[in-house]
Amino acid sequence: MSSPSALSLVIESWLRRGVVDTVRHLAEEQSFDRVHGVRTTGRVPVERLVKRVESAWPDTSEYQPVPAALFRAALAAVPAAARAGAFVDLGCGKGRALVMAAEAGFRHVRGVELARPLACQAELNAEAVASRLGVTLEWRLEVADAAERAFDPDETCVFLFNPFGRLVLRRVLDRLSRSLAAHPRAAAVIYVNPQHLEVLAESRALTEHSLGKTRIGGVLDWAVYVSRCTGEMGLGRR
Ligand SMILES: C[S@@+](CC[C@H](N)C(=O)[O-])C[C@H]1O[C@@H](n2cnc3c(N)ncnc32)[C@H](O)[C@@H]1O
Repeated sequence: MSSPSALSLVIESWLRRGVVDTVRHLAEEQSFDRVHGVRTTGRVPVERLVKRVESAWPDTSEYQPVPAALFRAALAAVPAAARAGAFVDLGCGKGRALVMAAEAGFRHVRGVELARPLACQAELNAEAVASRLGVTLEWRLEVADAAERAFDPDETCVFLFNPFGRLVLRRVLDRLSRSLAAHPRAAAVIYVNPQHLEVLAESRALTEHSLGKTRIGGVLDWAVYVSRCTGEMGLGRR
């Protein structure tokens, strides 16, 4: 998938969020790695790192870290019950979302990434944050195609920062539906920059919970979907 330039992203943010939020966002992005003691910044075209992956190619986004402000806003919308289990980032890149999930209190944190060099960096970042937080974290970094990976029954918070297109997303959601049918549980899917939201909307296992819209223009920044079981358990919105 082709990606817009950094300048066009700044202009787009300016138009959607206004000057103050854009400047605040840029300042946080500039200092994120220094403040958190990790290395997550930079954009990496994944075709440089992965020669060929049958199921995912060319349905793959380049690496760029999730904007910290969007991650925080989306995670805050997730029902508490879906925050109680493991966090899994499909297309974790260098692990920005994993670092922020650990900081937000998740103690079981997993990343799945096609490109080994990115997953290796995610592992270093995970070690750095675990040692900085001084808590016991269960980390698992898998170099794998998300379309081929089965969900574990303790995984309740699935994170996607627009990592792939419809093809892979459908296969991922199909696997998630099967896992939820076999092990019914409160679970949430956080989808930042939800380019293919219609695929989530098609899912019979999930239902829309919250949408994060930009201040100007009302374009979607993120969406949170929850398992139908989450609603039945009366856990609703936080
Ligand atoms: C936009 S980046 C997201 C990075 C990270 N989730 C974050 O929020 O900071 C998308 C990542 O998804 C990975 N990716 C794309 N298709 C994938 C697939 N089928 N399986 C696993 N990872 C994939 C890319 O290599 C890239 O690192």
